[in-house]
Amino acid sequence: MAEDFKVTPWEVTGDIDYDLLAERFGTTQIDDELLSRFERYGKLHMMLRRRIFYSHRDMNTIFDEYEKGNKFVLYTGRGPSGNTHLGHIMPWMFNKWMQDTFNVDMLFQFTDDEKFLFKQDASLGETRKMAYENALDMIALGFDTKRTKIILDTENVRTLYPIALKVAKKINFSTAKAVFGFDNTTNIGSIFYTSMQAAPAFLASEMASRNIPCLIPCGIDQDPHFRACRDVALSIGYTKPSQIYCKMFPGLSGSDKMSSSDPTATIYTTDSNKEVKKKVGKAFTGGCVSVEEQRVKGGNPEVCAVFKYNYYLFEDDDKKLNELTERCRNGEILCGECKVALTEKINVFLEKHQEKREKAKDVIGDMTFEGFKW
Ligand code: TRP
Repeated sequence: MAEDFKVTPWEVTGDIDYDLLAERFGTTQIDDELLSRFERYGKLHMMLRRRIFYSHRDMNTIFDEYEKGNKFVLYTGRGPSGNTHLGHIMPWMFNKWMQDTFNVDMLFQFTDDEKFLFKQDASLGETRKMAYENALDMIALGFDTKRTKIILDTENVRTLYPIALKVAKKINFSTAKAVFGFDNTTNIGSIFYTSMQAAPAFLASEMASRNIPCLIPCGIDQDPHFRACRDVALSIGYTKPSQIYCKMFPGLSGSDKMSSSDPTATIYTTDSNKEVKKKVGKAFTGGCVSVEEQRVKGGNPEVCAVFKYNYYLFEDDDKKLNELTERCRNGEILCGECKVALTEKINVFLEKHQEKREKAKDVIGDMTFEGFKW
């Protein structure tokens, strides 16, 4: 059972044991002491309180420097392979909170090159178009339009490439094979790619010609890239970027990660009210087979996708979440009722999001790094 899961930047399968994963990757779990450092700057974000963001590398350095007046830059990204779903925006929301809380700049990388290289059937035209669509979702979350820059790899390559080259020169094929599982059938673009994902971590420092700390909040599945990136940083004259990692956002079917390979268990930001109702209606729950049984035995929120959606995104109020947990366990609230309530919450969120997404079209042109045109 213990080894029964897999987490890589390209594949997530099985029941993830997050403690074991942190141990395998060698990341540090967030403890109360670190949380109290966050707390100095305001009320803890729900994703920190609930240990959804649960693991890190060198977060203390970020605080130490910040407290000396050396602000960090935030960096995160997205491989634009399809429409944005809730699992994508979850860490982006945390990034937005970090930007507001610490008043810092943000770099958002869209790796159209990555998706072109790694996906059999993707064309560069499509990955670029998806980057545009995904960027609208990112902007809709309310990032500071002046402090946030959108990188598109094939556009900003001129600036990224010299940094990527320095990184690439320090990573040999045997390391790439060990970290990413490449073999002799892997195309050579894919082997180089990790140096493109490393580049934005050093970009702010490169542009300012001094060390600017970089913090990367993202899903823990990206750690292999940043492990490689950190390993070479010092030898090419930069400091190591820090990371703060979240768990994967679960699928509606009960799987540990929401995935576009299962569209009926995935909620996209562009879904209609009806689609959401249908998908949530079919969600995996922790209920019993009959109403009578559930009234007596109660439900099991731990395994319930509907509960997880409240926990991860849709119920910010800890008291209300605890009440929901209790009422479920006591058999007071049944799955149907819970599904209706969640559908309503998701639809309220999506309606607002979709409006903001439309408005994002007016500003997206001003947010591109070095002013590239979409
Ligand atoms: N590889 C990531 C993906 O497939 C995209 C990405 C690029 C990224 N730079 C990043 C993700 C920085 C997190 C942080 O989605």
